[in-house]
Amino acid sequence: MAKERLDKLISSQSMMTRSEATKLIRSGNVKVNGDVVKNTSSKADTENDVIEVCGEVINYKKHIYIMLNKPQGVVSASRDNSEKTVVDLVPDNLKRPGLFPAGRLDKDTTGFVLITDDGDFAHDILSPRHHVDKTYLAGTDCLIDEEYLVRMREGMVLGDEKLMPAEIDLVCDSPSPVYRIVLREGRYHQIKRMTGATNAVLTSLKRIKMGSLDLDETLAPGECRELSSEEISMIKNMQTLTS
Ligand code: URA
Repeated sequence: MAKERLDKLISSQSMMTRSEATKLIRSGNVKVNGDVVKNTSSKADTENDVIEVCGEVINYKKHIYIMLNKPQGVVSASRDNSEKTVVDLVPDNLKRPGLFPAGRLDKDTTGFVLITDDGDFAHDILSPRHHVDKTYLAGTDCLIDEEYLVRMREGMVLGDEKLMPAEIDLVCDSPSPVYRIVLREGRYHQIKRMTGATNAVLTSLKRIKMGSLDLDETLAPGECRELSSEEISMIKNMQTLTS
């Protein structure tokens, strides 16, 4: 049984502050299993009790996992003094304290960003010890010469950095080429730097998949939705490297 103080529990599931939650409890707007509870220090069982706030049942979740279709011009951060962030795009009904992007996309890169409040999960999917593929569509101004494709597939050397082998395949060549690139690691500006070392110029970049979970293409740029537990495990489903 997981018992938690009601004010804490309510504020953890929304952007309501503890004191706002306390006021709601005192004013008789909170029910536990159908009974009004006015004692602010009372506790509720997050797994078994039915908790209602202003007539709405709270569907308690320890953590939340949100897929965002990131538009261009938004930064991968929780907050920023001058720029709009990916967390700013999360609608109020999914907002809660502690949200952050699990992995960054550049400001001009679009597509799949995972936003969560689960630090352990983020650590797992970003850790180099784990293997979570990230798949991108990269538009270029011309076809990339075969010699560079071979170098990308074998693991490019950029300065004194040796990159892991990446998958790269041409998915369409008209009106301009688009490549599907699968990365096994997440280095700074990796695709920009990889394509920067070829004969072609990168014209667009979109992340379309994390692990085996595809970006939901019904999400318009800037839209989000919560992930189901099956979808979360499609990202989490990873192999631990032994070395
Ligand atoms: N590689 C990049 O260069 N930028 C991104 O945003 C993601 C991968």
